[in-house]
Amino acid sequence: MVFKAYIFKRFYGRNGDKMKILSIESSCDETAAAVVENGRNVISSVVATQIEQHKIFGGVVPEIASRMHAEAISAVVEEALQKADCALADIDAIAVTYAPGLIGALLVGVNYAKGLALAANKPLVPVHHLRSHIASNYITHPDLEPPFLCLVVSGGNTLLVKVKDYTDFEVIGRTRDDAAGEALDKAARALGYSYPGGVTLDRMAQTGNAEAYSFPHPRVDGSPLDFSFSGLKTAVVNQIHNVQQKGETIVKENLGASFLKAVVDLLEKNTKAALLENPDMKKLVLAGGVSANSVLRARMQNLAKQMGVTLYLPELSLCGDNAAMVGAQGYYEWKAGKRGTMELNASANMPIEENE
Ligand code: KG4
Repeated sequence: MVFKAYIFKRFYGRNGDKMKILSIESSCDETAAAVVENGRNVISSVVATQIEQHKIFGGVVPEIASRMHAEAISAVVEEALQKADCALADIDAIAVTYAPGLIGALLVGVNYAKGLALAANKPLVPVHHLRSHIASNYITHPDLEPPFLCLVVSGGNTLLVKVKDYTDFEVIGRTRDDAAGEALDKAARALGYSYPGGVTLDRMAQTGNAEAYSFPHPRVDGSPLDFSFSGLKTAVVNQIHNVQQKGETIVKENLGASFLKAVVDLLEKNTKAALLENPDMKKLVLAGGVSANSVLRARMQNLAKQMGVTLYLPELSLCGDNAAMVGAQGYYEWKAGKRGTMELNASANMPIEENE
């Protein structure tokens, strides 16, 4: 009897066949907590954003981010539990983002999760941030299962990944320098707009003429699936200087729309090449903050139709950093046996494939 109860709890958690995970995210400028059931059903999700504080500086200031996470985390976790009508005792495991991200910011979440896990005697599940972004799609699309090809586009990363299984990843394309989101933020900044610039460029693209300015289409020699965005960043600054030197005025809307088009062109070109190289991949998935972009979403719809694959887009509320996606991926990490000890550390850089 005792043995049976142990097996039951070990594999299904204390809520029977419903595994309830309390998840915590603090990798950048959002402090977030959520309660997620069986990796797919979000019971509560709370996100406290710091964007207003970082805007003044034109980007995320790591030390401010860490301090603000430290201030917010208790209340955010408390609120997520309250909204889910849960006590800590009702939770089966605690999942936390431990890599990659800003190290001081990550450490706040990791240490808080370790303290909770120790105090409540719950298993601790470390979760990779980019795996979580991918998992936001498991919440939006309950029918989605690996294998699939995923384009991960966020502020810090740009990757083409073959998701072979929930915890089995193969990177087939990556940025050699800046991430797509970083390039968009820098272009918007050069035009005088505040962080996060990707959102502003998205708005400009609704009215601006995307053909008004031309930008290079950088390629990485010998690695057709890899990306390079740093040349584009320099090109936008040069365009602005050229126009100013000629005494002309920059049509910001047009320049923003043209730059966004250039970034999306690169993302689309490599994604198409990846699909051609991997005809076994019949599903295409988008993930990360930039996947909220309306131009990118529309272009991927067309590409999917053209290539005969099914496209999965995360719902807009799940594109940016949140803890619901950590709870989703945490469930599959937990099922695969991943556990964190009290020695768990955070890591600023970690490949998505790493399983330690
Ligand atoms: O995934 P995310 O929230 O944070 C990281 O984990 O990096 O991504 C943030 C990035 C920023 O560069 C921001 O400008 C971009 O996502 N972003 C967008 C849009 N919304 C957020 N870029 C283009 N269009 C959007 N609608």
